Amino acid sequence: VNLAVGKDGGNKSSPLLYGMMFEEMDHSGDGGIHGQLLQNNGFQGSTLGLTSYAPVGDAQISQDFLSPVSAAIKSSLSVSVPEGVSDYVGFANTGYNGVPVMNATYNTSFWIMGDYFGTINIQLIGSHSGIVYADHNLTVQSMASTFKQFSTSFESKESPDGDNEWHLTFDGSKIAGSSLNFGYIQLFPPTYHNRANGLRNDLATVLAEVNSTFLRFPGGNNIEGLQVDSRWKWNTTIGPLVDRPGRDSDWFYPNTDALGLDEYLWWCEDMNMTPLLAVWAGKSYGDILSGSELEPYVEDIMNELEYILGNSSTPNGKLRAQNGHKDPWKVDYVEIGNEDDLTHGCATYPDRFNQIYKAIHDKYPHVTLVASNGDYNCLPSPLPEGVIIDLHLYRQPDDFVALFNQFDNQPRNQSVMIGEYGCRNTTDAKGTYWSFMQGSCSEAVYMIGMERNSDIVKMAAYAPMLEHFGIISWSPTLYGFDSSPGSITPSTSYFVQQMFASNKGDTILPVKTSSEFGPLYWVASRTGSQYFVKLANYGPDEQNVTVSIPDTHAGRLEMLAGTQFQGNQPHNIAVQTVTSTVQGDGGKYTVINNKNADKDVARE
Ligand code: AHR
Repeated sequence: VNLAVGKDGGNKSSPLLYGMMFEEMDHSGDGGIHGQLLQNNGFQGSTLGLTSYAPVGDAQISQDFLSPVSAAIKSSLSVSVPEGVSDYVGFANTGYNGVPVMNATYNTSFWIMGDYFGTINIQLIGSHSGIVYADHNLTVQSMASTFKQFSTSFESKESPDGDNEWHLTFDGSKIAGSSLNFGYIQLFPPTYHNRANGLRNDLATVLAEVNSTFLRFPGGNNIEGLQVDSRWKWNTTIGPLVDRPGRDSDWFYPNTDALGLDEYLWWCEDMNMTPLLAVWAGKSYGDILSGSELEPYVEDIMNELEYILGNSSTPNGKLRAQNGHKDPWKVDYVEIGNEDDLTHGCATYPDRFNQIYKAIHDKYPHVTLVASNGDYNCLPSPLPEGVIIDLHLYRQPDDFVALFNQFDNQPRNQSVMIGEYGCRNTTDAKGTYWSFMQGSCSEAVYMIGMERNSDIVKMAAYAPMLEHFGIISWSPTLYGFDSSPGSITPSTSYFVQQMFASNKGDTILPVKTSSEFGPLYWVASRTGSQYFVKLANYGPDEQNVTVSIPDTHAGRLEMLAGTQFQGNQPHNIAVQTVTSTVQGDGGKYTVINNKNADKDVARE
């Protein structure tokens, strides 16, 4: 195949094209990218009971609803010590399928109520091996009448596996015949940009290396709520952690909401991503509210936007400043709902959309609004000017390839966003439920189609983002992990996203060729004198491609290549991007995909 890249003449390309979608699912946040490592640390939600807790030594533990830590954290852990105990006793927390223990500084904190003046011992310890990786004492003086918080930090040695727990013990002889109450325990490893209540540095660093341009949050289904009252509520995810009640989520486990609205926005700021905030638009899995019933919730959206965008003389802007961000956050994109009538036969979304659109647009005309039915149906007609339509696509590999030209003939005055997409091969007989080369290559083909049309395809987010391999409800995701060292595993799709997001020009260029698209697909772009050519070979045969690029003589070639079902597994990253330098003979470059690979995406 011979491709001759033109110098001029293509369409402008959206600078936000390749972004990311995050919602709390698969323990992507709690026990995932949010740094806190102890599960059920505030007994939030209604389903967990004593999950992750165990007594240490001669003590008994129970969940105590009569001694709440705060109005939001409605219970605590009672540790009662029998008469005659003379040893250290306490309790363990086993984290999210184990506590990852690294060679690092950890911060831990907990609240205590009970009359105790003495030593608290904190350990990170192998659950079955009993090997102690960290052992740290602090002296506390707690009171019988009220909860008091204590914090400390300590160094740990690395554990070879994830089978570890956090222990808190105290001098049992001082409490024998009585009890102490503990609440809202926390353990943090180093965090990204050293933020308090921040992201796990290791997982966040891998994500930052994708170079995504925007973050869509906080859902996804998880914004919707199983019932109206269990929807994601912005105002219960802000402020001191001990005042956040958490919620029963849409993805089968309680959310702590420690990763809350401000934390999402810090995340965007720290990774230089444009926030795309989804707001609740009246749909839960139980009831759907519209018309006058929706009005209080529209006001709630306006309060949320005042919190984010208002100056600190407004009531909600003042609250934001008190919570640590003096200036308004920069939020220019707001999505109205998530897949809001997809399963409800277009009943109410057009009206709900218009109601919310009007309120937001009147007050914040600079904010671009996104309509979120997940497809082109159930939208208001006409759609207000400037609104972006969000499309969601989870598809089998061949279906993504068939959609390569989806946007070629769309009206150029209607912008779209692919707010969620990813190859999901749930029916494959080989059981490749996790990303594999053919699927990732099909995403690359689809993305080439998007990029060619990135005058109207403004934003696109691979989804979902992250899974804890041991506790999954949806797979595949961009990358995954478990508690053991070396478990962070980028999928093959991760590398596709990284290559595409890290290399894109501001203008799409025409490409002259006598070949048709398929099985090889291409797109070229440039910014100034820097050219980018993306190729994806979806066929079983090797492709020999000559690419002529004007005014150039050398370049960098990045290639991801592997056999059809090849993928990456924890502790075995078999497929990753390989980078080399290429010389162009008079601006002509030859690219041959790896002979041993039958599915291939290459870019220069
Ligand atoms: O990404 C998983 C789910 O897929 C999202 O929560 C939802 O928006 C979509 O249906």
